[in-house]
Amino acid sequence: ESIEKGGYEHFMLKEIFEQPKSILDSMRGRMIAENDHLMMAGVREFENKFQNADRIIIVACGTSWHAGLVAEYLFEDLARIPVEVEYASEFRYRNPIITEKDIVIAISQSGETADTLAALELAKSKGATIFGVCNVVGSSIARATDAGAYTHAGPEIGVASTKAFTAQVTVLTLIAMIIGKKRGTLETTKLRQLIAEMESIPSKVEKALQLNEQIIGISEVYKDATNFLYLGRGYNFPVALEGALKLKEISYIHAEGYPAAEMKHGPIALIDEQMPVVVIATKDSSYEKIVSNVQEVRARKGKVIAVVTEGDTTIPAMADHVIEIPETSEHLVPLLSVIPLQLLSYHIAVMRGCNVDQPRNLAKSVTVE
Ligand code: G6P
Repeated sequence: ESIEKGGYEHFMLKEIFEQPKSILDSMRGRMIAENDHLMMAGVREFENKFQNADRIIIVACGTSWHAGLVAEYLFEDLARIPVEVEYASEFRYRNPIITEKDIVIAISQSGETADTLAALELAKSKGATIFGVCNVVGSSIARATDAGAYTHAGPEIGVASTKAFTAQVTVLTLIAMIIGKKRGTLETTKLRQLIAEMESIPSKVEKALQLNEQIIGISEVYKDATNFLYLGRGYNFPVALEGALKLKEISYIHAEGYPAAEMKHGPIALIDEQMPVVVIATKDSSYEKIVSNVQEVRARKGKVIAVVTEGDTTIPAMADHVIEIPETSEHLVPLLSVIPLQLLSYHIAVMRGCNVDQPRNLAKSVTVE
């Protein structure tokens, strides 16, 4: 086992550090920057269906559901198709309205999650077209779909999903770009920029991983906290949910992820000097808005741990801790902003003596409902 861990103390840490490669593997051969060419065999078969789809319904559980939320922003923004993101377990039991013009995308690392499989079978029986985004080749969900695109994250052993999430987001981004191009909703110049930016993501992830030492320091400060709040807006809202989930899963600290603006409708009541608040506040279209949210947290003496874009000076002037990530397009920012949050949860869990790779009560793949 120690050989399999490749010198890392835990599988989770190894998998976090594998992300430059797993992201690259998930995009390799699927795009060519020079002539804005994108290709995915599974999508090609389905291009006309995607082009004419009335809506896309995404079904998933856990971290894969968070990747689905990122995809909602991507598909609506780049391809202008309405998207609904569903917890598979709720969707399957509520008599959902599904038509033959719907495309259902099932996202699953293992391809074996019982609720996701049942949700897609239900949608299939109502005539929807089923597309899969799975990591495990030949898995039950992969086999049950009409077409799909694999993520190439490689085997993920740590129960808390890390590299599978970024691989899912990578593949879903490419799909949104392909469909956007086909539907004419994504103009060529923007598409070219996105492809070029996508190509630089693995090296930017590499850079984000260099934050490790700094994050160990921040983890020391907050390892005994009993609660954490994670805030984000836009593309970083799903990242806030994912950051909170990672912390809960492996450190057993109660954490909530929230859309930053929604904080005033509840969680703000929890903020005092004991409350660490992780704010993902990169330079994007909601930046000015999130600056005000940080002020609201400060005014209640919350401790602000801010994830910002390199070179930002406004938020650093207000935050207790500043984590700088490389600049990128806002469409791709989750691939970078999630990295420090994975590291933060990992180090806090290790410092608390938790079993990081096999947290209590959790399973890598939930094959019963
Ligand atoms: C379990 C795992 C999570 C995972 C979820 C969905 O809860 O512990 O890491 O995100 O199942 O799994 P899937 O294999 O369908 O992505």
